[in-house]
Amino acid sequence: PKQQTLAVIKPDAMEEHREAILEEIRGRGFSVTRLKETVLSREMAEEFYKEHREKPFFNQLVEFMCRGPCMMLVLTKENAVEEWRAMMGPTDPNKARETSPESLRARFAADILHNSVHGSSNEQHAEEKIRFIFGDISTDAELTSD
Ligand code: CMP
Repeated sequence: PKQQTLAVIKPDAMEEHREAILEEIRGRGFSVTRLKETVLSREMAEEFYKEHREKPFFNQLVEFMCRGPCMMLVLTKENAVEEWRAMMGPTDPNKARETSPESLRARFAADILHNSVHGSSNEQHAEEKIRFIFGDISTDAELTSD
């Protein structure tokens, strides 16, 4: 069965790498079933990353995510959550460059904060974050067609 995940192209990657990332997403067989460019407000960024509220980097993370436009995407494919995470590579691009040099973060990210892309960590988060960003999309044709 098809699965959905929420992918985000973060502000650090929007100017230089967004087209390459979109092309690669499509090349790997994901359907981009929703796409929107947004500048997150501080409140939205805080809510989006609420699971990280207690982390020492939370403020930096929120500020970074609000500093310019992000691209929000719903990716649909079998096993989309895991496949998108594999495509991104590890959170820390230095680790990514060692263990998965083909990954997006290995190629495009500067450091562990400015790491170019985000993806939901599991199906439940995917559903919650998709609803937060896009509202109820349970009637999207891609999902109901097979
Ligand atoms: P993401 O996968 O979007 O999930 C949480 C984000 O917090 C992460 O990518 C990074 O942008 C950021 N992050 C995670 N760990 C650290 C860290 N140790 N220092 C700074 N930023 C971090």
